[in-house]
Amino acid sequence: MNNGEGVNQRVEILQVLRTIKAPELEKDIVSLNFIADVKIEEGNVTVHFRPDTMKCPLLDQFTAEIKRAVIEVEGVRKVDVVIEHPKQDEPLETEEKFGGVQDLNHVKKVIAVMSGKGGVGKSLVSGLLAVTLRRKGYRVGILDADITGPSIPKMFFDGRPEISYTPRAILPPVSSTGIKVMSINLLLENEEAAVIWRGPLVGQAIKQFWTDTLWADLDYFIVDLPPGTSDAPLTVMQSLPMSGILLVTSPQGLAGMVVRKAANMASQVGIPILGVVENMSFFKAPDTGNEYEIFGSSHAEEIANAFDIPLLARLPIDSNIAILCDQGKVEECQVPEFDAVTAWIERVTPDCQLPKMPA
Ligand SMILES: Nc1ncnc2c1ncn2[C@@H]1O[C@H](COP(=O)(O)OP(=O)(O)O)[C@@H](O)[C@H]1O
Ligand SMILES: [Mg+2]
Repeated sequence: MNNGEGVNQRVEILQVLRTIKAPELEKDIVSLNFIADVKIEEGNVTVHFRPDTMKCPLLDQFTAEIKRAVIEVEGVRKVDVVIEHPKQDEPLETEEKFGGVQDLNHVKKVIAVMSGKGGVGKSLVSGLLAVTLRRKGYRVGILDADITGPSIPKMFFDGRPEISYTPRAILPPVSSTGIKVMSINLLLENEEAAVIWRGPLVGQAIKQFWTDTLWADLDYFIVDLPPGTSDAPLTVMQSLPMSGILLVTSPQGLAGMVVRKAANMASQVGIPILGVVENMSFFKAPDTGNEYEIFGSSHAEEIANAFDIPLLARLPIDSNIAILCDQGKVEECQVPEFDAVTAWIERVTPDCQLPKMPA
């Protein structure tokens, strides 16, 4: 399965393409957004070239230059150039305007994980979802969009992973099982630096994580939203294409109100709630096997029924989970209760689409 290698090859190809300049525009063909796509299949590279006009007198020259440059990249055996028609109605898009590597990111499904408040296990559920989808062989990325309390990198890495940069993109660190992880925490000089950002700034930062990070090809992209059902998670959701929302509650989490608010928000942006996960539902005594509802009895089922949203799982309180997460070993967690969540997500998640802006 491709993670590190495919990504690096893509980056190298982009770098060599950057050496090709459009003379009259005095910019390279990547910055000018003339590269619509780069497809790589076992050393066979197809560059989709889309100039701003078909009358481009230099088409043959560009084609030859692209072939000559890309064949030099390690592992490339053959280079084809496909000339695409320019977008008629759109002005020339320059990198300065749009930024990023969006043309190289192909993400099928984006799932936002939401909770009514902090501390209920939103990050844990985001992490477990990424881990279990990855175990099934999917290509998975996870974005820590909870910049008020970023904890995703800590769950996936022992210590601080290195981020690398290319002239055009941020390369996300890859976990031991191959999950791409990105968080504002990783870009800050000092990990403890408090990130006190206003809504629009957060939205902008998240948009950049989406457009400037080389996610490449992903089946699932998990977004750990800021806690609550207010503006912050809404801003994040509006910054990215979305497939659906996974809601996390705990027995004491005033779940009824949370679900109502979440349902309202979901309908505002036109994105479905895929289901509810109740975390810290019970404690199972290891000696007797008895289950205790430490945080009070659950109303999850009634609430889920009332809102017609499926209750996907009730997860136990398990100190092993907390310990593994603290050690950066979430990928070693075994939570059989979670299997139903992953199976459901696989079955029902639609392809992502741009959310509506609420009226
Ligand atoms: N089911 C669980 N059993 C044991 N510890 C848990 C469980 N769920 C979460 N935790 C721990 O509780 C803390 C808060 O969880 P976290 O996922 O970070 O919450 P949130 O993202 O909602 O703020 C973390 O230390 C986490 O490891
Ligand atoms: Mg969290």
